[in-house]
Amino acid sequence: MPDFSQSFINSEQLPLLIEARTKHLPIVPFLQEQRLMLIENILRYGGVLLRGFPIADAKDFETVIETIQLGKTVNYIGGDSPRVKVRGGIYTSTEAPPSVKIPLHNELSFVKFFPRHIYFFCETPAPIGGETILGDARKIYQSVHKDVMDRFTQKEIQYASSYYYKSLFMEWVNSLQPSHKTWRDVFETDDKNAVETLCRENEFAFTWLKKDWLKISQTRPAVLAHPTTNEKVWFNQVHLYDFNPKLLGWWRYIGAKLFYFQKDTRLHEVSFADGMRISRSDIYHVLNVLDANTVKFSWAKGDVLILDNVLAMHGRAPFSGKRRVLAAMTA
Ligand SMILES: [Fe+2]
Repeated sequence: MPDFSQSFINSEQLPLLIEARTKHLPIVPFLQEQRLMLIENILRYGGVLLRGFPIADAKDFETVIETIQLGKTVNYIGGDSPRVKVRGGIYTSTEAPPSVKIPLHNELSFVKFFPRHIYFFCETPAPIGGETILGDARKIYQSVHKDVMDRFTQKEIQYASSYYYKSLFMEWVNSLQPSHKTWRDVFETDDKNAVETLCRENEFAFTWLKKDWLKISQTRPAVLAHPTTNEKVWFNQVHLYDFNPKLLGWWRYIGAKLFYFQKDTRLHEVSFADGMRISRSDIYHVLNVLDANTVKFSWAKGDVLILDNVLAMHGRAPFSGKRRVLAAMTA
C-alpha cells in the first residue's frame, strides 16, 4: 500500500486530494518519486491538494515548489491585488478585506506572460470562512451563453489600470480598506525607467499621468486553448475589471463612486478592444456562471494546493479571525 491516498472532497473533482497516510512522510522524496503522477493529475483535474505532509512554513513551501519543478518562480509584476512579499517569489495571498469575497479568476489572465501554475500554502486557516473557492475553467467556458461567448471571442478585451505613487488621500482610502496599489508595489521598484522597461517586456502600453500616476493597458483574448491539452477555457478578468455593485457590494460601490472614482484614479477600466462598452448584463451573466460553477474547500494547516492556472480558477470566501495563506506562481 502506498504511503498516501487519493480521493475527492467534492463531486466536481477539484482538487484531487492527496493525503499522507503516515505522519512525517518526508515531502522531498515523495515529490521526487510521485512527480509524474502529480503532473498528470494536475492536468486532468486542474489541481491537487497535498495534505498531512510535514510542510510547516514558507521555507518548506518554497521547497515543495522547487522540487516539483513545474517552472520558474515569477514575481507578481503587473498584479493588481494587494499582497505582501514574504520571501523570494512567495507572497501573502490577497490582503483584500476579510469581508470581501474574491470571485473566481485565473491569476494574471489579463497579461501576456501569465503564470502556468499557482500554489497556495495554508499557514493559519481562518476560524470562520476563508475557504479558497475553485472553478473548472473548462466547465465555465461550456456554461457561458453562446451569444455572450460570441461577443467575447469575436473581440479581444482591453484592460486598463491606474496606479498612484505618493498620495496621502489614496493612503487614507487604503487605511479604510486596502484596495489601491502604488505602481511601486505593482512593479516592485520606484525607478520610472525600470517600470517602463517592465512595461515593454510585458507588452503593457503605459502613460504617466499628473502627480506621478501611471496608467497601463493591454489587450488580451477572452478565451484560451490550454497549451498542453488544447482544451478551451474561459480566461479573462473582465468581471474583476468592471466597476459594478454586484461585484463590490452597494456600499463599497457608492463610496468609491462618490469619493475617488474619477477618470485618473480608477483602479480598473475594461472594454472590448475596439473600445465598445461591455454591457452590465454580460458581466452579470459571467458572474452568475462563475457562481454556479464554484466549489470550495476548507483549509487545514499545512495544506499545499497546486493549480494549473489555465484549467482552474480560484478565489476566496469571506472570513473572520486570523487567516494566513501564502501564494506563489511559476511560469
Ligand atoms: Fe488570485
